Amino acid sequence: MKKLTIINGPNLNLLGKREPNIYGSLTFTEFLDEVRGKYPQVKIEYYQSNIEGELIDKLHEVGFSYDGVILNAAAYTHTSVGLGDAVKAIETPVIEVHISNTFGREEFRHQSFISPNAKGVILGFGLQSYELAIQSFL
Ligand code: DQA
Repeated sequence: MKKLTIINGPNLNLLGKREPNIYGSLTFTEFLDEVRGKYPQVKIEYYQSNIEGELIDKLHEVGFSYDGVILNAAAYTHTSVGLGDAVKAIETPVIEVHISNTFGREEFRHQSFISPNAKGVILGFGLQSYELAIQSFL
């Protein structure tokens, strides 16, 4: 069975409550239940942290044994050289995802330290961005 892990960065623990006009009103747990039911042939793990170093540690932990990582580094996407380096350092392919279309938002969101080292980037499809990333690993 393929093993994937979804890693969410800062403030994404508030999904469902946080700016629902941008990020939707579904909680991530609700979404995960739905998607796990839909793709029983793959193991989908989930990790969220608001702390940059913990996200780096998680990438190191899964990055040499899992089949894929789906990473929404949230605000750290635009600021973290360390997370970008971690994506480069590991062997497991990483798909960068975003719920919103970051290119349609403020200029500071147009920069990503993850993209140059990601296998691909999926953004702007709401929570469906994660599902499209899962499908890309099947
Ligand atoms: C986000 C976009 C980021 O710019 C923002 O800081 C987030 C969420 C998204 O999924 O649309 O927290 O990564």
